[in-house]
Amino acid sequence: MKIIWTILLVVILLIAVSAIAVYSGIYNVAAIQHHSNLTEWVLNKTLYKSVEYHARSINVPDLLDESTLKVGSISYDEMCATCHGGPGVDPSVIGEGLYPEPPDLRESIKQLSAAQIFWITKNGLKMTGMPAFGPTHTDEELWDVVFFVQKLPDISSEDYAALIETTNSKKYKQEHDHSHMVQEHTESDYTNIHNYQLEDQVTDNTHSQTQAPKNNNEEDVHTHTSGEEHDY
Ligand code: HEC
Repeated sequence: MKIIWTILLVVILLIAVSAIAVYSGIYNVAAIQHHSNLTEWVLNKTLYKSVEYHARSINVPDLLDESTLKVGSISYDEMCATCHGGPGVDPSVIGEGLYPEPPDLRESIKQLSAAQIFWITKNGLKMTGMPAFGPTHTDEELWDVVFFVQKLPDISSEDYAALIETTNSKKYKQEHDHSHMVQEHTESDYTNIHNYQLEDQVTDNTHSQTQAPKNNNEEDVHTHTSGEEHDY
């Protein structure tokens, strides 16, 4: 009987302490106030075990070529570098101010499989600032970034700058958006042929009006039903 009373007392005490911690406002939620080593260990262990468990049945598509890397680098530059930085690129003030800090992926991904990186990128990580890109991107688009991320440790600053150069070109920005990329892929061709059309691979005439977003810079010839042609 005594043991039951003791357990009950401990439980009541725990509830009381938790309630005080929650309602008093004593706990400091500031990002600059870091966790204790023990809390950090518990959170990290929970995170990696959870990722391991949830990514266990993801099949990795068999695909990695030059164009995957290029498309992946561009997506990485747009979607990830602001927090994680990249070869020769520092994280932005947003990345620098986050806690937990976004790790330098060149180091941290060595302990993650492609499936795990994919799961993290698609689903995000609760209470960390790591966003879920699944709601806004297709799996195909995310795999490109994942393959690029896996190659990050081998990519020099110069290679990275060269890879993302196309992104900075005004012409590319006008032609490129994700809906265009989705239209380029079908489920079946994804595993066989990787045919994203990149700026430097596309000749001016290969863009069909339905696939590419309108590009005001490019010379565009429209043929009217009358047979008349206009140059814009
Ligand atoms: C708004 C900031 C932000 C952006 C943008 C962002 N991340 Fe993260 N990411 C984080 C933070 C913060 C963590 C750290 C989570 C932790 O350690 O608890 C993280 C962790 C990760 C991890 C786990 C690494 C590890 O070893 O723990 C991977 C993989 C990752 N991000 C990939 C990406 C990819 C790929 C992109 C772009 C598609 C991306 N992230 C964009 C903030 C961001």
